[in-house]
Amino acid sequence: MKILGIDTSCDDTSAAVTADGSSVISNIIHSQVKLHNPYGGVVPELASREHIRNIVPVVDKALSSAGLKLPDINAIAVTVGPGLIGSLLVGLYYAKSIAYFNKIPLVAVNHLEGHILSILLEEEHPDFPFTALTVSGGHTSLYYVKAPGDYELMGQTLDDAAGEAFDKVAKLLGLGYPGGAIIESHARSGRPDAIHFPRAYISDESLDFSFSGLKTAVALFIDKWERQGREKADNIRLTDIAASFQEAVFDVLIDKLIRAGIKSSVSSLVLAGGVACNRALRDRLTLRAQKEGFTVYYPRPAYCTDNGAMIALSGFFRAIRHDYADYNIDVRSRFPVRDIKKLK
Ligand code: KG4
Ligand code: ZN
Repeated sequence: MKILGIDTSCDDTSAAVTADGSSVISNIIHSQVKLHNPYGGVVPELASREHIRNIVPVVDKALSSAGLKLPDINAIAVTVGPGLIGSLLVGLYYAKSIAYFNKIPLVAVNHLEGHILSILLEEEHPDFPFTALTVSGGHTSLYYVKAPGDYELMGQTLDDAAGEAFDKVAKLLGLGYPGGAIIESHARSGRPDAIHFPRAYISDESLDFSFSGLKTAVALFIDKWERQGREKADNIRLTDIAASFQEAVFDVLIDKLIRAGIKSSVSSLVLAGGVACNRALRDRLTLRAQKEGFTVYYPRPAYCTDNGAMIALSGFFRAIRHDYADYNIDVRSRFPVRDIKKLK
């Protein structure tokens, strides 16, 4: 079964073709990073216009790289939420029109489900059940994953997402957008124990996250550091701020993922979403998980950030049940995973 997957939930125009569920035949991404970089974040109006420019060539390229044409496709899977409304609309309406004209079934997909299942695109993946932490620019959530389509939310951020905090700190330091990879590279030569930034554990029991306090603490620190003339201030370098901030985020992410794994009595953990590209986070988590008796699985970076392959894969599990979408389906900016059972 060949599935065309389309994702335009935020600032990447992505399309991919998969065969028999998890075998990726093509995976094309048009990134808008350069467009949004001067603004220090995604500008929704610009993002949707850029999707309009790129959706046709990106889908064409996904098909031609796979050596296929639309009539060879068995189902078209498309993200309907959560995400930016104007961006989602471009992907959904293009998917609807090519599905309609070519008489191909349409499958609606939740973007978060895509991140949760993205690990199945890798040959080395865990058996069900497993505990997954999806950590990106818009989300930081812990799930107990029983089977495709069967997820239990164990905890989530009460304010900012971890990736959002990376982007904000990079902006405060004048390092550009998106911040994750830039902070990671500066942190490599910094001291993680130079500054003690707050870690929000909320309570011993809670598996929820909060990053707004950390963001404010870093902002106040940077403000004082700038006023004191940057590097002259107590010998603190920009790299130390990056490393200390990163350490504070990782302490909480790692601790809560391990605790969620213990609580759900699984042996496998999964880290997915854009922040999971971070090498330092992967190394620290792998070490800690080994000590606690877990095996951790990571999708490759191209499957951590937004991509069409994870949407095609999620769509496959619906397509095999003939769980197709109606043509009147609409996009939704908020779309908790618990609502996917109502997807039609
Ligand atoms: O999954 P993703 O591509 O898009 C969303 O669904 O949000 O994640 C993007 C986020 C951005 O906030 C970016 O700064 C972060 O992932 N990110 C990283 C790294 N690479 C990307 N954060 C930390 N370290 C990285 N190496
Ligand atoms: Zn995403």
